[in-house]
Amino acid sequence: MLRSSEAVASAPAEVRSVPLFDLKRQQTRLRSDIDRRIATVLDHGQFILGPEVEALERDLAAFAGARHCIAVSSGRDALIMALMALGAGPGDAVFVPAFTFSATAGVVASVGASPVFVDVEEDTFNMNPAALDTVVSQVVADGVLRPLAVMPVDLYGRPANYPAIAEIAARHSIQVVADAAQSFGGNLGDTSVGALAPISCTSFYPTKPLGAFGDGGAVFTEDDKLAEAVSQIRTHGRQGDGDEALRLGMTGRLDTIQAAVLQAKLSVFAGELQRRQEVAARYNAALAGKVATPLDEEGIGSAWALYTIRVPDRDALRATLQADGVSTALFYRIPLNRHPAFAKYLTGREELPVSERLSAEVLSLPMGPDITDDEVDYVIDRLLAAIS
Ligand SMILES: Cc1ncc(COP(=O)(O)O)c(C=O)c1O
Repeated sequence: MLRSSEAVASAPAEVRSVPLFDLKRQQTRLRSDIDRRIATVLDHGQFILGPEVEALERDLAAFAGARHCIAVSSGRDALIMALMALGAGPGDAVFVPAFTFSATAGVVASVGASPVFVDVEEDTFNMNPAALDTVVSQVVADGVLRPLAVMPVDLYGRPANYPAIAEIAARHSIQVVADAAQSFGGNLGDTSVGALAPISCTSFYPTKPLGAFGDGGAVFTEDDKLAEAVSQIRTHGRQGDGDEALRLGMTGRLDTIQAAVLQAKLSVFAGELQRRQEVAARYNAALAGKVATPLDEEGIGSAWALYTIRVPDRDALRATLQADGVSTALFYRIPLNRHPAFAKYLTGREELPVSERLSAEVLSLPMGPDITDDEVDYVIDRLLAAIS
């Protein structure tokens, strides 16, 4: 990422510095509330599963309209615990999109199961349900792996096509585990992320729409048994304060201090989501027809974790924007089938042309609840100048 001093040194006088994310402004807005909440935790001293954790879980479940919420140590751990609760292990196939963050496949491998890659859709960036159907059928026909679950990802904050995926999953008798790491705050119609799948996992990594001041995540589920399993796994497989390991577990809890920070951030989250939507609409209005802009459809609520365009000459545009002080990012430059860590899971029959193409063309622009209209307009102006 370009440092602002380099931008100023190498660029014309009117160059400004627009970071990809600006977490400092949000901190300034919320600082006194966060300080007060952290002081309360320091005073009571219950750093593990203190009262703020339970209160946050209640508030997150209510926000999402989900039956259960279990606050955990990270998005990755949330996914691992969900897979452990489903009993995933060696011989199980878990279907994941090929165009996503590496953790989506990494968690599958971490529990000993096999990630199987599915292509995504050109316009939504999310798992292609028809491709899922084909790939599950192939795995069934091969008879080597047992299809266990599909893990759709809500890329950049836009929920995947859960209705279509649920229908395919039911037909093949597999579970749906939502990798909603990027999409907390999103919705499909009246249903919010967290309640779109029987089990959903999100991340509170600092740059996520709802971000902590460190690592954190949550598991949402409608299923009482899965909720009990995840809460046991979160504390070494124990039930409550019990000393007996009822199942294999991990140290998977969200720290009380992070829960306190997240309570402060959740109190303003609805307004921040609204602002992200406004920023996306401002970009779309100016950029539509000039570059491939992300879909913004009635009834499909993105949390706009990222605003991502597609351009053929992506790397050149990125360099020009960087010289103009505009920070951008490549999420994701390498499809999962090309990561060395996952090479051993490839069959050689993968058909992932859209994932390959998107990896070469995507470019994420500055986004967040605190970016100003003026800054968005500067990004738009520089981008249009660069491609004209
Ligand atoms: C799609 C996806 N899955 C999983 C994760 C893992 O979340 P965390 O970084 O909180 O472990 C992330 C976070 O970056 C993500 O974007």
